[in-house]
Amino acid sequence: MSLGIEVLIPEQDVRDRIQEIADALSEKYAGEEVLLVGILNGSVFFLTELAQKMNVPVEIDFMAASSYGSGTESSGRVLITKDLERSIKGAHVVIVEDIVDTGQTLHLLTEMLLERQPASLEVCVLLDKPARRKVCMDADFIGFEIPDAFVVGWGLDYDQKYRDLPYIGVIKEQ
Ligand code: IMP
Repeated sequence: MSLGIEVLIPEQDVRDRIQEIADALSEKYAGEEVLLVGILNGSVFFLTELAQKMNVPVEIDFMAASSYGSGTESSGRVLITKDLERSIKGAHVVIVEDIVDTGQTLHLLTEMLLERQPASLEVCVLLDKPARRKVCMDADFIGFEIPDAFVVGWGLDYDQKYRDLPYIGVIKEQ
């Protein structure tokens, strides 16, 4: 058995949608500075494209989190493995993430960052898989809603591979 990748969202569609999100963010934060907080590793490709397309001043910082438990199903507990380098008190913060799946990672991170008293906190995701949600988590900016399939590309990996694909693909057994 080998694995193939079927294109779910073509490259140009992803780039066009990121431009639309960047425009919406630029409008919302007109006259302000924004701190984009990327969640490693999956957010990196989306965050850099978004930052370059926004036309308000941005700073960037990163956090890393891993859910732990046994097997492939998440335990629902999330461990912070890398924290931010700076204080976010009084800052307009946008968390940037590749995908909201069960919602557990973003749920925990938003609660944690809200305690640090930012001026505002919004969540921006490239993809949303609502069928798999386990906790209440509504992102403020969503690139695409997708069906319950395992996807790769634009930072999303399968066994650490395929993050660099410029389109969103679905892994298929051949
Ligand atoms: P959560 O289940 O919403 O907490 O998502 C945790 C993480 O699972 C995401 O940030 C992704 O890194 C990863 N993930 C969820 N769905 C997929 C997928 O379809 N492909 C690759 N990674 C995924």
